[in-house]
Amino acid sequence: MYSRCLTMYFVVIALLLAGLLLAGCVRGTDEDQIITTPTPENGPALFAQHCAGCHGADGKGASGPSIKPPAFERQDLFLIVANGRPGTAMPAFRGQINEVEVEAIMDFLYAE
Ligand code: HEC
Repeated sequence: MYSRCLTMYFVVIALLLAGLLLAGCVRGTDEDQIITTPTPENGPALFAQHCAGCHGADGKGASGPSIKPPAFERQDLFLIVANGRPGTAMPAFRGQINEVEVEAIMDFLYAE
């Protein structure tokens, strides 16, 4: 009787340990997901979040100018977005969105 109790005790301990390991794995996955790679599919969402307020939902202009191509050179966009346009309402996004996200936004603007 006593030894069966002991066995149960070990089974419970083993299950608890397995549970902890599993929880650790799940947490690891969550951390991985924070470093998501923006893809072109994120472009519209990123644009809506950061740019549409001034450049219009389709980028064709609102309070800010149209930024649909060929309004600007594609390679210039990185600098414009990173540094903004000093003295205008165009904000600097350096440190707020990364290059991959700018790439996704550009893909969105260049689509069609
Ligand atoms: C608070 C308003 C505002 C937001 C938000 C904003 N812009 Fe602008 N943007 C402007 C204004 C105003 C100008 C015009 C600046 C000027 O007069 O040169 C501009 C200019 C630009 C230009 C240069 C256009 C040209 O023909 O020279 C680009 C490219 C641009 N914005 C891209 C973006 C992108 C991409 C985002 C989102 C990441 C964004 N902007 C967010 C207001 C904004």
